[in-house]
Amino acid sequence: MSQAKVSDAAIAQIAGEIKFDILAGVPEGSNDLKRSQIARTFISDTITAPTKEMFTYATMASLGDDVYHEPSTEQTHIARITGKEAALFMVSGTMSNQIGLRTHLMQPPYTILCDNRAHIFKGAGFHSGAAVTPVAPKNGHHLTLDDVKNNVVYGPDVHFAPTEVIALENTLNGTIFPQDEIIAISEFAHSKGIKMHLDGARIWHVAAETGKSLKELLEPFDSVSVCFSKGLGAPIGSCLVGSKEYITRARRIRLLFGGGMRQTGILSGSVAYALTHNFPLLPRVHALSHKLEKSLEDIGVTILSPAETCMANSGTRAALPEPLFLGGSRVVLHIQTSESAVDDLISLIATIAEEKRKAGFVKPEVQVNGHQDVYVRRVAH
Ligand SMILES: Cc1ncc(COP(=O)(O)O)c(C=O)c1O
Repeated sequence: MSQAKVSDAAIAQIAGEIKFDILAGVPEGSNDLKRSQIARTFISDTITAPTKEMFTYATMASLGDDVYHEPSTEQTHIARITGKEAALFMVSGTMSNQIGLRTHLMQPPYTILCDNRAHIFKGAGFHSGAAVTPVAPKNGHHLTLDDVKNNVVYGPDVHFAPTEVIALENTLNGTIFPQDEIIAISEFAHSKGIKMHLDGARIWHVAAETGKSLKELLEPFDSVSVCFSKGLGAPIGSCLVGSKEYITRARRIRLLFGGGMRQTGILSGSVAYALTHNFPLLPRVHALSHKLEKSLEDIGVTILSPAETCMANSGTRAALPEPLFLGGSRVVLHIQTSESAVDDLISLIATIAEEKRKAGFVKPEVQVNGHQDVYVRRVAH
């Protein structure tokens, strides 16, 4: 049955209700303020701001629909630099890892073995019906072949769900996984028919710190998730890489997860800009982290690695002319961290250390994790 013609007044009424001007909520200069705050924010390396140059570049990308084919979302470049056959663009690292695991897992019962601090831990049961074997590394730093052998499940014993995937993370809390250990675990896994997945959200940092190519670092893995929205400073985006057959299946699962995207050109344009212009900034971030670590040691603060604790910052923040922004337990440096913010953080912690020393009952302990994360906690003595 055809509808009666809707009046222009009715359309105008609905249009008036749904229209929305977000710019009214962005006062002039507020983004400049935000950028200066980001330079002093140690909460996470996801808290960066796209630059005008990044946005200008991104708006020139192509206008296709990625479920059909978006030319600028040139995933073959990511496949090539990671040494894999194919790649698939994802909204987030969480989605990329979860689809990555789901694509490997065909028929329960199955288990995923991972570090007990790993990100993929959360969600694999929900999305894949997988049991997880979380393993605490004996050395407190990274899983070893022995850790894996002691916890992996294979063979005919029906009491335990077989390990189908070993999922590693590099960096993990900012620490670098030794490549020879990864190779040993991978050779063992493959000899038992177990797949190797890597959460390589911050693999860029490993490449920047070790000088090894992505291809070499990722060679031991069947699938890898890399993120562009963390250390590299793109606003959104991750990629899953693997064999052609694997990525074809992942593309189907991505659609089922609600991750089929449309005009992704503007996102992949930002990613391309980040890869080109922001990767070379990582050595500076690492140098700042090393400077922070060394200065804290000089202050007499105990440096421990790795550990997650809570930030000792109360009381002293007001003494700074410009505030520092600190999260619960971590201090993370990123490509837009300013050197003056690091200097202020060092004097802040020096002041806390002095105050606590005078008070005589608490000594600050700072935990510098690998190359970009610094953790601070208070311990009673
Ligand atoms: C190592 C690692 N993997 C995965 C994720 C999840 O990424 P996203 O926040 O893009 O979902 C994070 C988040 O910070 C992470 O640190």
